[in-house]
Amino acid sequence: MKADELRKKYIEFFIEKNHTQISGKSLIPENDPTVLFTTAGMHPLVPYLLGEPHPAGARLVNYQKCIRTSDIEAVGDPSHLTLFEMLGNWSLGDYFKDESVRMSYEFLTDKKWLGIDKDKLSITAFAGEEGIPRDEYTADIWRSLGIPEKRIYFLPREDNWWELACGTGPCGPDSEIFIDTGKDACSENCRPGCHCGKYFEIWNNVFMQYRKTENGEYLPMERRCVDTGMGIERTIAILQGKQSVYETEIFMKIISEIENLSGKTYGENEETDISIRIIADHLRTAVFILGDERGVSPSNLGQGYILRRLIRRAVRHGKKLGINEFFLSGLSGLVIDQYCEPYPELRNKWDFVSAELSAEEKKFLKTLQKGEHEFEKMLPNLLKGKNRIIPGRLAFKLYDTYGFPLELTEELAAEHDFTVDRQGFEKAFRKHQEASRAGAEKTFKGGMADNSDMTTSLHTATHLLHKALQVVLGAHVGQKGSNITPERLRFDFTHYDKMTPEELKHVEDLVNEQIQKNLPVSMKMMTLEEAKEAGAIAFFESKYGEQVKVYSIGDFSKEVCGGPHVENTEIMGIFKIQKEQSSSAGVRRIKATLIY
Ligand code: ALA
Repeated sequence: MKADELRKKYIEFFIEKNHTQISGKSLIPENDPTVLFTTAGMHPLVPYLLGEPHPAGARLVNYQKCIRTSDIEAVGDPSHLTLFEMLGNWSLGDYFKDESVRMSYEFLTDKKWLGIDKDKLSITAFAGEEGIPRDEYTADIWRSLGIPEKRIYFLPREDNWWELACGTGPCGPDSEIFIDTGKDACSENCRPGCHCGKYFEIWNNVFMQYRKTENGEYLPMERRCVDTGMGIERTIAILQGKQSVYETEIFMKIISEIENLSGKTYGENEETDISIRIIADHLRTAVFILGDERGVSPSNLGQGYILRRLIRRAVRHGKKLGINEFFLSGLSGLVIDQYCEPYPELRNKWDFVSAELSAEEKKFLKTLQKGEHEFEKMLPNLLKGKNRIIPGRLAFKLYDTYGFPLELTEELAAEHDFTVDRQGFEKAFRKHQEASRAGAEKTFKGGMADNSDMTTSLHTATHLLHKALQVVLGAHVGQKGSNITPERLRFDFTHYDKMTPEELKHVEDLVNEQIQKNLPVSMKMMTLEEAKEAGAIAFFESKYGEQVKVYSIGDFSKEVCGGPHVENTEIMGIFKIQKEQSSSAGVRRIKATLIY
């Protein structure tokens, strides 16, 4: 049985049982700030489960697109998906446990419907906990239908209780229906809920009889409801005897197109399979988010951020498979074609879906190319080194400044017979995190004590700021003091007036322009007199001996200083002025930082 047929049969069955079909809702919940996406068919029905009368009556049925991203990282294995379709039937104060269980049993086992052998079913019921009794009542119904004792399991709250992730609202014990694949049990403790592959959950009947309050109290509801959910993808995989949802018709077309594009074959190599599954899953989900009635575009916030992650991860795995052209937009047509009958909104949004996928893919590829370019630039120096190992610090710079993923640095490295010092990368990562965590007020001895990347970058930024202030405000600007922590720079300088917002913006822009020019930073030793003659800014003259270090940042800045500085402004990030205030009479103070 295919997904389309299962969807139709389910609706037809419950209509025969006097249910009214209601439409599924948007993936983006209305008026619910607690979740980003609709996670279950009951989600849009919460007010009705809590007592509001539903205009379509007390017996409802539908199919609902759902997204669960809590284990997005697990996608890639044969069973995880970010998007799934849930079939559901509801009783809003109408039937309860008896009829619900009996209808489920009939739909699953009757030849007219799914015709599953009843001996393949295993059932769970709530074992009782926290003053809520063991659900012998439901178990008795299953017993009366011929399910033997040994295939009825009483499980605790962890397995057999259902409530929303937000922790309030309608809830209750549930009874889950599993298919036993016939595989040997993995251990004595193997039971429904075990992940060894023997048991697959296909349907959950929740008996909503409590309302959980904000204080965590369970209040019995007078009007008891039933909420059920059957995942289409899993169920058809089982009905088709497949080991994985990815082997069903839902994914096979997309997978075969990925095979064509990449020249790789699904099922031959685990690493390739993981990439193929990630692309197939993420593409399908991205198309549904973009093509939703309330669709969003990729962004750095909320649903848009999840969408961006999905698209970028798919592109990255496309690259891993050797797909070098833009491919997501082209593939999206397959998904729309497959789903536009049950989800007509997808057809209406076809152009939008395709345009947004292209744009985001291009944007991300640019990021990747920039990273690759930086890598190429690093190569000559790396080749001079003793061994063919890319220092973790450099891999981290690529990651941190260009968003270039470590795995890609490793791939590029491998192409040139290099490996990446992963431990070094992790160390740099931790160092960066610690530096960011260190309090802004953390003071530090004398400026040069800390040579972390951030501090070094802030030193160089101070020179750029100094020069930019002279350009914008005039040659009277001179350094009066400087203090740098791993968090920010502080720079005191001679100037009488409060700086205007325009002046601040001008200074900031000027500094960022220089950073973006990837200016090289060079150092020369010379006498103080020579330095002044060369036009270098020099303060605290008495501090310097005969020979001084003069640091030049491109042609923009030249300053006498002890260092250290970055080798090139390219890794510095974005310069941001946080505050401008008075320091003392005729002296202003700027606090600024670099954002990565
Ligand atoms: N709301 C129940 C579930 O998602 C049916 O499993």
